[in-house]
Amino acid sequence: MTALKISDNEFHRLVKFIQSKYGINLIQKRALIEGRLSKTIAERGFKSYDAYFDMAFNDESGLETVQLVNKLTTNHTYFMREVQHFEFLRDVMLPHVEKTCQNTRSAAIWCAASSSGEEPYTIAMIIDDYFGARKKGWDLRILATDLSTDILKKAQAGTYSAEGLKDVPEKWKQNYFKRNADGTYTVVDRIKKEVIFKQFNLMDPIKWKRPFDIIFCRNVMIYFDTETKNDLVERFYDVMKPGGYFLIGHAENVSKESRFKFVQPATYQRV
Ligand SMILES: C[S@@+](CC[C@H](N)C(=O)[O-])C[C@H]1O[C@@H](n2cnc3c(N)ncnc32)[C@H](O)[C@@H]1O
Repeated sequence: MTALKISDNEFHRLVKFIQSKYGINLIQKRALIEGRLSKTIAERGFKSYDAYFDMAFNDESGLETVQLVNKLTTNHTYFMREVQHFEFLRDVMLPHVEKTCQNTRSAAIWCAASSSGEEPYTIAMIIDDYFGARKKGWDLRILATDLSTDILKKAQAGTYSAEGLKDVPEKWKQNYFKRNADGTYTVVDRIKKEVIFKQFNLMDPIKWKRPFDIIFCRNVMIYFDTETKNDLVERFYDVMKPGGYFLIGHAENVSKESRFKFVQPATYQRV
């Protein structure tokens, strides 16, 4: 089946809507839009993109726009991605947390675009491995958020192919996963309980009350325009503890004007 062609007007209408509501810039993604939406439009009996957008953009329940954005987002991720961050977590950030959070024995850690869960589960495994028996009495649960409800369901299930675990150390594979009869692996409950998944649009005000010790926001701002990205970075700054660490993808950058202090590539600290 050939993809239904989107007109210039329809294309710009969608680009504008998605940009203003979710920050995602689709201006270079015309082919992706046609590829991902034309089947839905045909299946649901709409005659044009405009007819589908009229319905979706005006749906008061919000469910239609969630479905639309589920189709347009790129969720690519994998275990141990950009491993330097995880080494830094083990060698610097967790010792910092252990020292500075002794009084409350709890830290606020946020994985702000968690996709299918590989990133927050990697963080939870590193925490478990680092603290070992000392973890008793500590609350180091990770808040993991994403815009896409479909991907959050996959994350909560915590089941991955054997190929998806190829970079996970053998010891962790044994300690933190159970092998299923079909050859897939599921994260053990002990680690699952350490990750709290919630839907959150990074364009919305950040309302969590506790200031964060660590924020991972990797490989999502690359889809945002400069203004949206800079604004988000400063909003992260405002909800962090002084000395807290902020991590972005290695292909991303933080503006020179930002209040964050550069620590090493893709790693920043609130002053
Ligand atoms: C490429 S994945 C990155 C996953 C992971 N952080 C990593 O580095 O591997 C980008 C994720 O950002 C999410 N996303 C895109 N726009 C968002 C927004 N406005 N608010 C929250 N999440 C968003 C997408 O649904 C997708 O799961």
